Amino acid sequence: MADTLNEVRKITPTEYDIHPLIKSRWSPRAFDSKPLSEEDIHILLEAGRWAPSSNNLQPWRIIWGLKGSDTYNRIFDCLAEFNQGWVEGAPALWIGAIKTDMKEGKKENFHALHDLGLFMGNVVNQAESMGIAVHQMAGIDFEKAKKEFGFPDNYHVATATAFGYYGGNPETLSEDLQEEELQTKRERKPQAEFAFNGNFKKD
Ligand SMILES: Cc1cc2nc3c(=O)[nH]c(=O)nc-3n(C[C@H](O)[C@H](O)[C@H](O)COP(=O)(O)O)c2cc1C
Repeated sequence: MADTLNEVRKITPTEYDIHPLIKSRWSPRAFDSKPLSEEDIHILLEAGRWAPSSNNLQPWRIIWGLKGSDTYNRIFDCLAEFNQGWVEGAPALWIGAIKTDMKEGKKENFHALHDLGLFMGNVVNQAESMGIAVHQMAGIDFEKAKKEFGFPDNYHVATATAFGYYGGNPETLSEDLQEEELQTKRERKPQAEFAFNGNFKKD
């Protein structure tokens, strides 16, 4: 169960009121030891399954494993050293991949990565509603993972993701990561820097 003494509180200074699920989400590196069940994973996959995608092609592909399983260890072995350093305690790991071409296998699906992002957006919000934290990772050896899990050439491994309940003990992390974990204020660019009611403006 989540140990409230370990619970890290974050401040999210929004410019406008947003849904509490979006506001409360953050990406921890220390997770509670409570395991995730196969059912939890299927609920998360189901949330992703109903994401919109270009032409309804659903180009996302997921490899998942619970801690203690062979698949988990194989995913772990594909992660960048930096991520292996903190991810050990995560109760579940998965890999997100995309099918890079359209149905006929010739034309590139230019929007596949966009659609995997939408899939993950659904997953992240569903997880948050269940008290499950999500930490996505670009730090994975893409080629190694592609080979390890038998993806054909027209697939591309994009990310790995760690899942676990909030409430992990930051002291299990290295000193610099502890500092990041305990930082209370979250930061984002102001809207004016990325959204334009007219022409693009350079930073
Ligand atoms: C596609 C993607 C790749 C990421 N890669 C890594 C990674 O390899 N290692 C890591 O520790 N965090 C990684 N992150 C986590 C981000 O650093 C984090 O989401 C960002 O700092 C914002 O913090 P927040 O999610 O707590 O709001 C990644 C996040 C995303 C969405």
